[in-house]
Amino acid sequence: MTKVRNQIHFLLNSKVITLDEVSATTTLLDYLRLERRLCGTKEGCAEGDCGACTILVGRLSAGELVYETVNSCIRFVGSLDGCHVVTVEHLKKKDGSLHPVQQAMVDHHGSQCGFCTPDFVMSLYALWMVNPNPTNKQVETSLQGNLYRCTGYEPIIKAAQAISSIESPINDPLVLERKQVIEQLENFNDGSRVEVSNGDSLFILPASLDDLAKVRQSYPQSTIVAGSTDVGLWVTKHMRDISPVIFISHLPELHTIEITKTGVSIGACVSYSEMLPVVEKYFSPIAEYWNRIGGEQVRNM
Ligand SMILES: Cc1cc2nc3c(=O)[nH]c(=O)nc-3n(C[C@H](O)[C@H](O)[C@H](O)COP(=O)(O)OP(=O)(O)OC[C@H]3O[C@@H](n4cnc5c(N)ncnc54)[C@H](O)[C@@H]3O)c2cc1C
Ligand code: FES
Repeated sequence: MTKVRNQIHFLLNSKVITLDEVSATTTLLDYLRLERRLCGTKEGCAEGDCGACTILVGRLSAGELVYETVNSCIRFVGSLDGCHVVTVEHLKKKDGSLHPVQQAMVDHHGSQCGFCTPDFVMSLYALWMVNPNPTNKQVETSLQGNLYRCTGYEPIIKAAQAISSIESPINDPLVLERKQVIEQLENFNDGSRVEVSNGDSLFILPASLDDLAKVRQSYPQSTIVAGSTDVGLWVTKHMRDISPVIFISHLPELHTIEITKTGVSIGACVSYSEMLPVVEKYFSPIAEYWNRIGGEQVRNM
């Protein structure tokens, strides 16, 4: 008998969040800005194009804590069970001073009106954590999902390359807190199916692949949501009611890539970034186009 939990749990910066009345279509961006008043994360396009809403989402993958840059405008809160959400507010140091990424942006005049500055900071933060000394090309690739409207990108690229001269990432809170965060996320994962209803809205996170089949059988009209880069827009642009929703991106079985003698088998939740190394190795002529479609998310920090 599958255990059912009627709440989601996740970490938001350093705070444990438990929600039992959230709608299937509440976006993370709306939740951050309207419910938590964390207004550093901005709304530009609300369709995953401009990057103004960039945050980090950490999740456990084969025992490792993996963070990815995510557009919060088209990510639903319900899908975040067991994750660590990191917003720009988490960067401020305890003494109130700027984070090295923010300081580098100031030093190199990487900000004008300031609207998009938090999203650039988050993308550069993610890059700095995995690659403290990036080349120009690596900075450009990491920023290709972030639109800067005031002037050019040059000061931002210079800022990206100066961060490590201010501080090394080894003492960053996300590195120092890693063990605690992993423990916390492991505690959230109790093997339950999650079912949360709120008025007419219902969303479910199946406990496993077998459980997904059962849930789908019970709700044949449900909307399956993987990365929500398409479904997200049905909600933010078309105001569609998509309930009941089955979120599947947490299921590890759907993140596998299998290379066989006859081909490559790609799990239904493999992201473009996860797939990129395989594309580069086995389908190199299309690697450049792959990058253009999916952009390059910084992951595995
Ligand atoms: C900024 C931006 C740029 C984009 N650029 C491109 C582009 O250049 N080229 C391009 O082709 N696309 C592009 N897209 C579209 C996007 O890449 C695709 O929509 C994406 O591949 C969908 O994957 P997803 O996991 O996010 O799907 P979702 O949004 O989660 O789902 C999409 C559809 O698939 C269904 N579904 C999801 N998983 C399963 C499953 N396991 N079994 C059955 N049904 C399932 C859903 O119910 C829904 O109908 C872009 C999207 C954005 C936001
Ligand atoms: S607001 Fe533009 S990508 Fe989210």
